[in-house]
Amino acid sequence: MALQRDFSTILIERDRIAQRVHELGHEIVRDLRMSGVNLDDPQAPASRVVIIAVMTGAIVFVADLIREMPVKLHIELVAVSSYPGTSVESKGVKMKTALPSDLADSHVLLIDDILDSGQTLQALIGLIQQQRPASLRTCVLLRKPGKAKIDVRADYVGFDIPDEFVVGYGLDYDGLYRNFPAIAVLRR
Ligand code: IMP
Ligand code: MG
Repeated sequence: MALQRDFSTILIERDRIAQRVHELGHEIVRDLRMSGVNLDDPQAPASRVVIIAVMTGAIVFVADLIREMPVKLHIELVAVSSYPGTSVESKGVKMKTALPSDLADSHVLLIDDILDSGQTLQALIGLIQQQRPASLRTCVLLRKPGKAKIDVRADYVGFDIPDEFVVGYGLDYDGLYRNFPAIAVLRR
């Protein structure tokens, strides 16, 4: 692929991502069931499951993950920007769309592409908690360990990665490379 010339290494190959996403989907469903959610009947008390995907980075991950979760669930999108343009350092979190306002009593799974400084998840967790969901869990495909300046817990993590700027599988640099099917390190 022509995109490949811009990368120094492929950090996580496509089939490893697929395998891990499969495991995560099953783990999440198992945990929801174990905490008493009636996954066959979303009308049952406190059994509504809502996935909130953080746009744009999580789109590819979420598209694959939901197909590994064969249960009744709702999908919502929220757009947030934290790395405007060509910056590789977080510039703070900006909400570009409003969160859904009907999360009370729902089991919410917040999904993002990567946990870096933790600002994005922390901001969204705070806003979602205000609505008093029945539960809130967080899931990220990637995590850069040791980098989080804030103590934010990700309940489900696909891969811990070194502190490199990565692209592909939804992650971008200046809006590009999201369509690359693996996780790659950008050549600087
Ligand atoms: P945080 O708020 O610093 O945790 O950053 C999370 C957001 O920054 C993610 O949703 C990504 O969109 C973006 N981000 C952080 N690290 C990277 C990276 O290595 N590549 C691409 N985007 C990143
Ligand atoms: Mg991004």
